[in-house]
Amino acid sequence: MSEPVLRLVGISKRFPGVLANDQVDFELAPGEIHALLGENGAGKTTLMNVVYGLYEQDEGQIFINGEEVEIHDPNDALARGIGMVHQHFMLVPVMTVTENMMLGHETTHGPRLGPLSDLDQERVAEEIKALGVQHGLPIDPEAYVQDLSVGEQQRVEIVKALYRGAEVLILDEPTAVLTPQEAEDLFAVMRSLIAEGKSIIFITHKLKEVLAIADRITVLRDGKVVGTAEPAQTSEEELATMMVGREVILQVEKGPAEPGEAVLEVQNLNVQNLREQSVVRGVSFSVRAGEILGIAGVQGNGQAELVEALTGLAPVEGGHVFMNGQETTHLRPRAITEMGVAHVPEDRHRHGLVLTYPLDENLVLQTYYLPPFAKRSFLQPKEVRENAKRLIQEYDIRTPSIGTHASSLSGGNQQKVIVARELSRDIRLLIANQPTRGLDVGSIEFIHTRIIEERDEGVGVLLVSSELDEILSLSDRIAVLYAGEILAVMPAREATKERLGLLMAGVREAPNSIAAD
Ligand SMILES: Nc1ncnc2c1ncn2[C@@H]1O[C@H](COP(=O)(O)OP(=O)(O)OP(=O)(O)O)[C@@H](O)[C@H]1O
Ligand SMILES: [Mg+2]
Repeated sequence: MSEPVLRLVGISKRFPGVLANDQVDFELAPGEIHALLGENGAGKTTLMNVVYGLYEQDEGQIFINGEEVEIHDPNDALARGIGMVHQHFMLVPVMTVTENMMLGHETTHGPRLGPLSDLDQERVAEEIKALGVQHGLPIDPEAYVQDLSVGEQQRVEIVKALYRGAEVLILDEPTAVLTPQEAEDLFAVMRSLIAEGKSIIFITHKLKEVLAIADRITVLRDGKVVGTAEPAQTSEEELATMMVGREVILQVEKGPAEPGEAVLEVQNLNVQNLREQSVVRGVSFSVRAGEILGIAGVQGNGQAELVEALTGLAPVEGGHVFMNGQETTHLRPRAITEMGVAHVPEDRHRHGLVLTYPLDENLVLQTYYLPPFAKRSFLQPKEVRENAKRLIQEYDIRTPSIGTHASSLSGGNQQKVIVARELSRDIRLLIANQPTRGLDVGSIEFIHTRIIEERDEGVGVLLVSSELDEILSLSDRIAVLYAGEILAVMPAREATKERLGLLMAGVREAPNSIAAD
């Protein structure tokens, strides 16, 4: 076999209270897509951050093309041909694509200080366009990053790495935020990059993707390498078992729903986005106690705005919302929370967590002023700690301590904190937007089971997800949202992937075809 482009030998990385990487050996061959799998908190992002120069390893060596190197910062990494696209993007929203590309890179051409010349900008814009065309990653160099969709931002990140000469590309959960079509497009790009001789490290929790695209798969558990496999010689079940260390049930079990009164009633709802475009248009539906209504749809069809309007985070333009029979249309988030409504938000960094707060406080963000956490308006630290200990145990949140800041948790463990907090309150309605995004297979199994338990205890659940498998396995009824409108609502037993897929693409059903069902 040819010399690996990247070889890691005995890499260890410690944080206070955790050994995030424990003597990791890893090899990346030229022209290879090597998938890195592992539970939430297994150490995947940390290992890649070491390679990219964001962290310095405590032990171990890094070899690039056979030569031992020291990588002190991302500029070192880029100079050695290593680029990385992060789990949470790192672009500056108020700058253009070109400006983002040049950020921190101004020194190679032109002066170190002072504004960039227009000439430089133009030249870079041309190069970016050409790179985009070459790799099937079309981007508009003049666009502001804040106006781009998530998929487009990711393209910018990839082009940015290529622009800086990446030969090895690290992609940390790139597909978690993509629509299925965007994920397919990304795979095509990845294949064309390896055809040119580049190499890719691909982190994901989606086992189907790994089997479809990887040449080799390395599994980490608790910071250690468990093993390396080839797709042809393994299966989803085997990979799941390697990751988790036990057998995982990939399909959830649930009995029939016993729906009661409506806990959420939405009438003719209209919502606008920040640019005053109508993005939720005349939407009506209800969710009853003890049932799960799934909202299927390709991301970006109004789901985010719908959920924000229901939970009081965005204003309602028209229509009415009732919860437990009481109008909540223009209530503030806290008033809605106090009516027994739980919300798992799509964007965990913006709405779900206070990253600079410790874990135990993040677990009582809505209840810290209520008993048992407060007595006569005094915080009861012991109760807050006890609560954290219980939830960490129950939800298997991997953290060195209850005082660890949310920002130091792995992506999936941050998500578990939000779900644990929301489901541990006394609730009547759960509004969950992408509740399992970024979670490993074992954690998805657990969260799905918990959502069904809530339903069986009489909670009404509004589940918004762009994962069709998740919608199909949890929902009792399914609505399809397309371009801000609900195109159909059906009992789950009448839903197939094909039928939902057509509706999600905006193909309306003739009225008699619904009746004929
Ligand atoms: N900056 C940091 N400070 C302290 N601890 C950290 C830091 N970054 C990561 N950790 C810890 O290191 C461990 C590994 O985290 P890492 O982010 O590498 O996991 P991961 O495999 O990427 O998980 P996920 O699938 O959830 O993204 C975790 O226990 C995490 O809490
Ligand atoms: Mg990670």
